[in-house]
Amino acid sequence: MNEGIPPEGPRARTPHGDLSLEEIAESLPGTADLMALIGTAWWKCAHAARGGNWELAGYFARRVRATGRRLAVVRPKYGADIARFEEERIAPVLAATQEQDADAFETAFAAATDEANAFHAKWGKSYIRWTLPSEPPRDLDLGPR
Ligand code: HEM
Repeated sequence: MNEGIPPEGPRARTPHGDLSLEEIAESLPGTADLMALIGTAWWKCAHAARGGNWELAGYFARRVRATGRRLAVVRPKYGADIARFEEERIAPVLAATQEQDADAFETAFAAATDEANAFHAKWGKSYIRWTLPSEPPRDLDLGPR
């Protein structure tokens, strides 16, 4: 029995105990953790655009993009879908924030949301249908400067 014998390979020493690389890798945020971040940023992105704080809307669109890239690293099986989503769906949202074009933003945002939900269905989670909360976030100034 191997009980009590640490697995081979490099280990990180922490005040709480030693961790293997596998244990560290397994502790990284997973899909659900990163998607929760994406959902919050996506919600704030829409309300920032609607409020006229276009820089903030762009900031949150980039947060969604960056978090998607993190997901592609920890779960490579989603990499191709994430790359396509970034290229075809996030890019037009970002462009609309840069041009401060409210109509283009709404169209791109709705198309991206539909596609995100199609990806949820593709990966066996058709019950995850993201919808935009009507309430704006209360922790940020959403108005134009
Ligand atoms: C703006 C776009 C997106 C939004 C707002 C969004 C939102 C969400 C939310 C809120 C969840 C539930 C998270 C929780 O457990 O609390 C979720 C789960 C999930 N999303 Fe997304 N999503 C987006 C894009 C995508 C894309 C492009 C993919 C493609 C791979 C994807 C794949 C998944 C998967 C596989 C899950 C299930 C999590 C699991 O298996 O543990 N999502 N998403």
